[in-house]
Amino acid sequence: MSINSFGHLFRVTTWGESHGPALGATVDGCPPGVPIDEAMIQQWLDKRKPGQNKYTTQRREADEVRILSGVFEGVSTGTPIQLMIENTDQRSKDYGDIKDKFRPGHADITYYQKYGIRDYRGGGRSSARETASRVAAGGLAREAIKAIAPNVQITGYMVQMGPHKIDRDAFDWGQIEQNPFWVPDAKAANVWAEYLDGLRKSGSSVGAIIEVTARGVPAGLGAPVYGKLDTDLAAAMMSINAVKGVEIGEGMSAAMLTGELNADEISMGPDGPVYSSNHSGGILGGISTGQDIVVRFAVKPTSSILTTRKTITKSGEDTEIITKGRHDPCVGIRAVPVGEAMMACVLLDHMLLHRGQVGENQGHIG
Ligand SMILES: Cc1cc2nc3c(=O)[nH]c(=O)nc-3n(C[C@H](O)[C@H](O)[C@H](O)COP(=O)(O)O)c2cc1C
Repeated sequence: MSINSFGHLFRVTTWGESHGPALGATVDGCPPGVPIDEAMIQQWLDKRKPGQNKYTTQRREADEVRILSGVFEGVSTGTPIQLMIENTDQRSKDYGDIKDKFRPGHADITYYQKYGIRDYRGGGRSSARETASRVAAGGLAREAIKAIAPNVQITGYMVQMGPHKIDRDAFDWGQIEQNPFWVPDAKAANVWAEYLDGLRKSGSSVGAIIEVTARGVPAGLGAPVYGKLDTDLAAAMMSINAVKGVEIGEGMSAAMLTGELNADEISMGPDGPVYSSNHSGGILGGISTGQDIVVRFAVKPTSSILTTRKTITKSGEDTEIITKGRHDPCVGIRAVPVGEAMMACVLLDHMLLHRGQVGENQGHIG
C-alpha cells in the first residue's frame, strides 16, 4: 500500500494495523516552536479510546501515545514528529472463525481481491484502530493552530443515530460532553441510550451522522479549483472508516432551495462582513468566509454483527458467517473525535499554505 499520507504542508502518514505491536503517525511540516507534550495529545486519544462505556467496543486499549522524535525541551523542532501508540489488547483468536470467510459489508473481500493477502486479525489495516493515529496527529494540529489562530474551536457531535435526529431548537453546546454520544440535545441522548442498548443486546448495529463545526476560523483559507478547502475537508472525512457521505453547509439539501433562500446575505458589521445565515457552511469558492465551518458525515452501521449472514470463503464456496469479537454497535460515537482530528489537520494545513502564499497581503474590506 503506498497511499498512507494526507496533507500538503502539514503532512500526516499513518502506519500500523489492528493486531500488530503498535501503530502511529509520522507528522512532517509542523512549524517549529509549538509547545507540545504527550498529555496535550493524550486528551483527544482518551476521547476516542474504546471500552469507556457499554455503547462502544469492549476492547480495552490504554491508547497511550509516545512522542519518539521532533520535540525537544517541550517544543516542536520543525523536524518529523513520530507518534506511537502500542496495541495492548489484541485477541486474534476472536477472529479464527472468520479466517477464511469474508464479512459482508467489511473490507475483507476487497482487500483480498486487491492484495491477495488476508490479515483476518481484526481487519488489519482496514480496522478503525488506524483512526487512533489520526486523532494523535489531530492533537498535534490543534496545538499548532493555537499558535496561529488562537480563537479556533473545533467541536464534533452526533446529530443523528439511525432514525433518531437531534432537535436543532434544543441544541446546547454545553450538553456535548455530558453524555456518551457527544450529542448536543439532552432529550435525544436519553432516547438514543435506550435505542442503542436494545440494538447492542440483540447483536445488531446502526449508522449515524456526525457534524464537525470549526468556530473562529479566519476568512481566506483555501484556494479556488484544486486547492479548495471543501475539497480537502470532504476527502479527509471520506477517508475515515465506514464514512459513506459527506456534506458541507446545506449539503445535499441545497438542491431543494431557491437562490433567494440559499445565498447568505451580507452586510457590513463593525469588524467586517456579517452574513444573515450560513448555508455555505463557511466556505465560498473553496475559501473560508470567516463564518463557522460546518461539515457533516454519515457512517454506515457496523458490519460485524451477531446475525447469521450469507457469504463466501476464500476458495469460493457459499457459506454463512456470524461475527463475534468486540465491536462498536454504532461507530458514530467513536468517529466524533476522529472527525475533529481530520478537521484540525486540514485547517492547519490550509493555514500554513495561506501563510506561505499570501502572508500579510490578504484583502481587507472596509
Ligand atoms: C471509530 C470507528 C470504529 C469502528 N469499529 C468497528 C467495529 O468495531 N467493527 C467493525 O466491523 N467495523 C468497525 N468500524 C468500521 C470499519 O472499520 C469499516 O467499515 C471497514 O474498514 C470497511 O470499510 P468502509 O466501511 O470504509 O468501506 C469502525 C469505524 C470507525 C470510524
